Amino acid sequence: MTLRFPEHGSPEDRSATFRFPEGFLWGAATSAYQIEGSLETDGRGVSVWDTFAAREGAIEGGGDARIACDSYARWREDLDIVEHLGLNAYRFSVAWSRVVPEGRGRVEPRGLDHYERQIDEMLARGIAPVVTLNHWDMPEALMSDGGWMGRSSVDAFVEYAVAVADRLGDRVPWWITQNEPWIIQLLGYQLGLHAPGIRDLRGSLAAGHHVLLAHGAAYDAMRPLTSGRIGAGLNLLPCVPASDDPADLAAAHGSDGYVNRWFLDPLLGEGYPDDMRAHWDRAIGGGIDDIVRAGDEEAIGGRSDFLGVNFYTHRVMAAAEPGPGRPFPWKVVGTAGEVPRTDEGTEIVPGAFTDLLRRLHREYPGTPLLITENGAIYGDSPTHDGEVHDVRRIQYLRAHIEAMGTAMQEGADVAGYLHWSLLDNFEWALGYRPRFGLVYVDFRTGERIPKDSARHYAEIVRAGRVVGREGTAPDAGTLVDSLGAFG
Ligand code: FCB
Repeated sequence: MTLRFPEHGSPEDRSATFRFPEGFLWGAATSAYQIEGSLETDGRGVSVWDTFAAREGAIEGGGDARIACDSYARWREDLDIVEHLGLNAYRFSVAWSRVVPEGRGRVEPRGLDHYERQIDEMLARGIAPVVTLNHWDMPEALMSDGGWMGRSSVDAFVEYAVAVADRLGDRVPWWITQNEPWIIQLLGYQLGLHAPGIRDLRGSLAAGHHVLLAHGAAYDAMRPLTSGRIGAGLNLLPCVPASDDPADLAAAHGSDGYVNRWFLDPLLGEGYPDDMRAHWDRAIGGGIDDIVRAGDEEAIGGRSDFLGVNFYTHRVMAAAEPGPGRPFPWKVVGTAGEVPRTDEGTEIVPGAFTDLLRRLHREYPGTPLLITENGAIYGDSPTHDGEVHDVRRIQYLRAHIEAMGTAMQEGADVAGYLHWSLLDNFEWALGYRPRFGLVYVDFRTGERIPKDSARHYAEIVRAGRVVGREGTAPDAGTLVDSLGAFG
């Protein structure tokens, strides 16, 4: 039962033996709202996700994050797992509403105490903290000014970033100011599928812009408070034309502008791309100059010590007439025919990962990359032996680490790889059904069970290269034995 992923690049690209450099960061990632629970502990304020999750029908299965993985209480156990796996990095996020519960003004020291304890413990164990500041959980109080749609969100974010950096700046080596600006813009403010659940195209453009502006402003404010590297994390989706028809080629280029270049270009110092600016002008009418004001692009660019890359899949694009619900002249059509997919139907394309890293290296030279997320939904749960034999996650992991190695062999400057996710967790509007973890979580008891993929990853990390056999857990004996026993 070996799942074959499409070959990527040319045959000589294969890099199964690529040895990752000394000091490469190997880790896993989580975010506060998805794992912490304890939503009323230590003076935490209400966040936009608390409000959104309470809306009828907002969360599949009707779940909420009141307990989630209970990691606010069980964080030491989580670090034990990270340490046992031999990982040298852990990406997590600070919950904004634990630090500035009312969105402006008063800072809650108990929230900061919690993260300080956690970070000190990580450092004592040789685990580099990679700290995200905004993983989508803005304090609800800021919605009175429109949340990210309001320009005042920039100042609110700076207040928060300064409070955190003031306390922790001397010991955090990697900061991620913003996680996935495009997803905040699209799901939070354009489609209303994520908090704060707004559907406003023009507002969504403003929200995305303010998220970037807040990155720039926070960078300037944090710079004197930390020697850690500061960057933002983008979810980048290579856009491929469905055919070689020029209309589809234009659709892929346009979509690349919307999803990728609209964020890459201003962050990495080139300002917003003209072609996409024209698309936005047309889509919202009346131009965007009152949103993107004079001087804004200069305040965003040149403030990325590295770029965080979240990679999951690609988008196969075809031309389409704009219309209701389709602001731009393109649509996602997916790959025609059979392709490997995750349990959620996401196309698995490690070759696109290599191509993306090559492209970033070529088109935005000089900015180190950190893979801040990469992972897949597979629903495996414990079998009769109590273990989780998630063979497909092992294959996914191997294929993507190899794909990254290929790009690095060609010169891409990648500082580390952080798998999404350490734990099965609260997957936003999809609730608890999709499981992304290297570690299985029993949401009734909070029990953590490292999956076979976790052990396989640990072997790769120990060796500093992709080792072991594809499609097998390192201790495949157990699997074979138990299969023997149960016929
Ligand atoms: C990313 C998010 C992360 C998680 C993964 C699956 O978009 O940053 O919180 O939901 O996708």
